[in-house]
Amino acid sequence: MKKTKVFVTRIIPDKGLDLIKEFCEADVWEGELPPPREELLRRVQGVDGLLCLLTDRIDGEVMDAAGERLKVISNYAVGFDNIDVDAATARGIPVGNTPGALTDATADFAFALLMSAARRIPEGERFVRDGKWKTWGPMLLLGMDVWGATLGLVGFGRIGKAVARRAAGFDMRVLYYDPHAKPDPQLKATPVDFETLLAESDFISLHTPLTPDTRHLIDAEALSRMKPTAVLVNTSRGAVVDMDALYEALRDKRIFAAALDVTDPEPLPANHPLLTLENLVIAPHIASASVTARGNMAWMAANNLIAGLKGERLPHCVNPQVYK
Ligand code: DGY
Repeated sequence: MKKTKVFVTRIIPDKGLDLIKEFCEADVWEGELPPPREELLRRVQGVDGLLCLLTDRIDGEVMDAAGERLKVISNYAVGFDNIDVDAATARGIPVGNTPGALTDATADFAFALLMSAARRIPEGERFVRDGKWKTWGPMLLLGMDVWGATLGLVGFGRIGKAVARRAAGFDMRVLYYDPHAKPDPQLKATPVDFETLLAESDFISLHTPLTPDTRHLIDAEALSRMKPTAVLVNTSRGAVVDMDALYEALRDKRIFAAALDVTDPEPLPANHPLLTLENLVIAPHIASASVTARGNMAWMAANNLIAGLKGERLPHCVNPQVYK
């Protein structure tokens, strides 16, 4: 009988990798950068399972390169816009993701970004390090109050709700826009339409998956409807925001600031105009980068992979229709 083989497209925490290695033969891509396309197509040949990252584009070509033995694709992420799920479903391949593992880490980080942009912390740090700080000043680096402000959440799933819980500690009024969300009686949050959210929020935090409907949801038009004092926070996917429109809105001070953990593209080129702006706070897609969250993601991704290899239902499957 042939040995069960998998390709793992990057080194992930041992909490998951050890499980995988105990169960089957794992070919692990050890590069710091993702495997180049040619390498990915070569390394998947004949595997029974694929554990991939959001930096890998997994489409029908990859699935066909893997061939008939491919039984499962396990994404080391909660988002799965890097995978052509329809192509996987058409081939009867279940796709797994890691919901829940990174909820609190991401919500913590969204709040940290919100506060950093509101109170201009990175800008203040640059100011000090650049030797520009001469004295205490009544008008120096004035920011926006978080306490008691209105927070608008676009997306009220696990992470949006976790941000709402944090906002309660700052006595914020919480609005949310999410056509798919069920109200949560435990949380003081009001469902509103998109227009109301844009017009009334002091802070807008994005927690929606990237789909054809949400691509460029925050475009020039949406930005023009925000308050001039508004702060936009994005920890979802870069392409939910039109980067060019955001650049113009920030440059012309049509909104107060933005804080991005995700960009389009990723990484943002070093000469991108957004990086010249003081009212932009930026991070390299690290909202889930806590030791606990990344370990839990690895464990969940490994369990999805192993379940698929055993022919069992994935604990977290994004295309359960493959089981019908
Ligand atoms: C995810 O899991 O989708 C996150 O973006 C990873 O940080």
